[in-house]
Amino acid sequence: MKRVLSGIQPSGQLTLGNYIGAMKHFVAMQEEHDCSFMIVDLHAITVPQEPAALREQSESVAALFVAAGLDPAKANIFMQSHVREHAELGWLLTTMTYMGELERMTQFKDKSSGKESVGAGLFTYPSLMAADILLYQTDLVPVGEDQKQHLELTRDLAGRFNQRYGETFTVPQPLIPKVGARVMSLDDASKKMSKSNPNAGSYIALLDSPDVIRKKISRAVTDSGREVKFDPQNKPEVSNLIAIYSACSALTPQEIEARYEGQGYGPFKKDLAEQVVALLEPIQARYQEVRASGELRRILADGAENARQVAAQTVRTVKERMGFVLD
Ligand code: AMP
Ligand code: TRP
Repeated sequence: MKRVLSGIQPSGQLTLGNYIGAMKHFVAMQEEHDCSFMIVDLHAITVPQEPAALREQSESVAALFVAAGLDPAKANIFMQSHVREHAELGWLLTTMTYMGELERMTQFKDKSSGKESVGAGLFTYPSLMAADILLYQTDLVPVGEDQKQHLELTRDLAGRFNQRYGETFTVPQPLIPKVGARVMSLDDASKKMSKSNPNAGSYIALLDSPDVIRKKISRAVTDSGREVKFDPQNKPEVSNLIAIYSACSALTPQEIEARYEGQGYGPFKKDLAEQVVALLEPIQARYQEVRASGELRRILADGAENARQVAAQTVRTVKERMGFVLD
């Protein structure tokens, strides 16, 4: 049994990209592994958040975890900020991270570009993410493609610490899906689908109504051809839609190509919308139940309690090895 951990930021409405690239795999992994999944609220505040919105989104992400199929009896679900050791180990690792390493992070470059003032936390964000992972001696981290660079830094930091202070951390492996690791925007296939895009037509939110989903997919940009063909180089828009279709159904991209041969984009898009609606409708119904039931409070309290036991021990060992006087 491997130790698995991942996190999603409560910085807006979760999208189909989050589901296909990450959450779907969380649900599959809970059957076989020792899993922890976090709502990473400390990461969300690296860009400005409105307090009421942050609170609502944090609860919403927690409810979506459960609604998507995470079972608190099988996986540990918790809020990052409920376990103080994340901030503590985050600081300890920040002191061991080089400026040059952080300067190379493409997510920082993307998120800070064109901004007048950028919080220092946005820059040191990857050290906190490393702490999230290393606190639990994590073996596997299921994430989308965009997190690969952060995982490489985490591995380097684990190795650096182990070398300097003795074997302490497990060096984790990223687990990036073969199809759907990078779901692209519906309006621009050169950008990843993101909840922070100001154009809501560019993404499908997990809580979008069926009609909104149908409308967004019918308006999704395609090329001027009519061949449903999986060719990311030459047909990035259609290939993105095929990847979404594949992730929502049991069909491979090749089977999807065969099914729509000679039919043009119309029928393909129509069916794709129904696939997405069929995937999301039960999740949305369960979401409403979870929010109404009040069960989240207990799930998150239990999750944090379990997490703290492991995290406190790790921080104690780390502080001892680094030369702190222990309390
Ligand atoms: P975030 O919303 O940035 O906290 O991302 C949470 C998880 O969803 C991470 O594992 C991301 O890699 C994944 N993810 C976010 N957007 C996408 C996307 N467009 N395609 C695939 N995976 C994604
Ligand atoms: N940085 C990740 C993202 O933006 C979220 C995250 C924070 C995370 N801590 C993590 C993912 C630990 C995996 C493991 O998507």
